[in-house]
Amino acid sequence: MKLLILICFLYLILYIQPVENHFLNWIWNKFQDKINPTKSRRLFDCGKSDIRQILPAKIDQPRITGGISAADHSFPWVVNVINLKSLKSCGGTIISPDTIITAAHCIIDGPKYITVIAGAANLFGRLNIFNYYAVSNIIIHPNYISCCDYDVALIKLKKQLQRSEMINSICLPNEKDQKIKSDTIAFIAGWGGKYQISELNAFGSFHLKQGLVYIKSNNYCKNIFGSFDEKDEICATNTYDNVDSREGDSGGPLMILNKTDNRWYLFGITSHGVNSETIQPGVYSSVSTKLDFIKKYL
Ligand SMILES: *[C@@H]1O[C@H](CO)[C@@H](O)[C@H](O)[C@H]1NC(C)=O
Repeated sequence: MKLLILICFLYLILYIQPVENHFLNWIWNKFQDKINPTKSRRLFDCGKSDIRQILPAKIDQPRITGGISAADHSFPWVVNVINLKSLKSCGGTIISPDTIITAAHCIIDGPKYITVIAGAANLFGRLNIFNYYAVSNIIIHPNYISCCDYDVALIKLKKQLQRSEMINSICLPNEKDQKIKSDTIAFIAGWGGKYQISELNAFGSFHLKQGLVYIKSNNYCKNIFGSFDEKDEICATNTYDNVDSREGDSGGPLMILNKTDNRWYLFGITSHGVNSETIQPGVYSSVSTKLDFIKKYL
């Protein structure tokens, strides 16, 4: 009996904490709206986070960042995309107050089956109804036929997201077809589970995971994947730690920190060719080559 009470108590503490945050936030926003409707909202400021990410101290010793839990809310643009028909979970990234970018293969069942969870740092946050956002429309890349060429889609939300410590957008690449130097360090993030049995991955990992990868040259990628298409794809690997995306990470971001303006930029969407048991690089859908499509619907 005592144990049961203790368990209930612990559950409440853990569960109420994020509910409380968002509930107070919501009241605060309503209050601010009343007293100063135009000035009350913080504007989206792409690629900036109030919470610092866990980055390697020395860039030549990047091992330490292999597949660890991200600091809570340190990637405030990463969202969870839930498909209520297939009960599959994917990642997604906020690119404007009402636009999420994800992989096309995650959302082919149509807008009425898709829900977006934003502002969640852990599993409790993802079970919290205040973090759920309804979808008005989905736009799949016109060249997408089946998994996994041009595996990119946009989700338009019914209501605009409000910028907070927990929610912000990532920056899109500055230039179309922007070249990335080989071995540039990038980060991937996702809720993907690490279990071999797929059912155990329904809820994914407790915390958002981050991993460090190296972007490879197009020639390197072509040598490994015969079908590699540089107009559509980027490949990246980490040969030290075997960091790679897992089931449930699809749709999530491949991000580069720009040291000049200190902002995070979205260069890829986790797509396919992903197998954490091998050293093979992961394949990501390229964002800079699809900027025209993306900007049309922002
Ligand atoms: C980094 O940011 C600066 C300033 O915005 C920009 O000129 C530069 O092209 C960016 N570098 C990359 C690799 O995106």
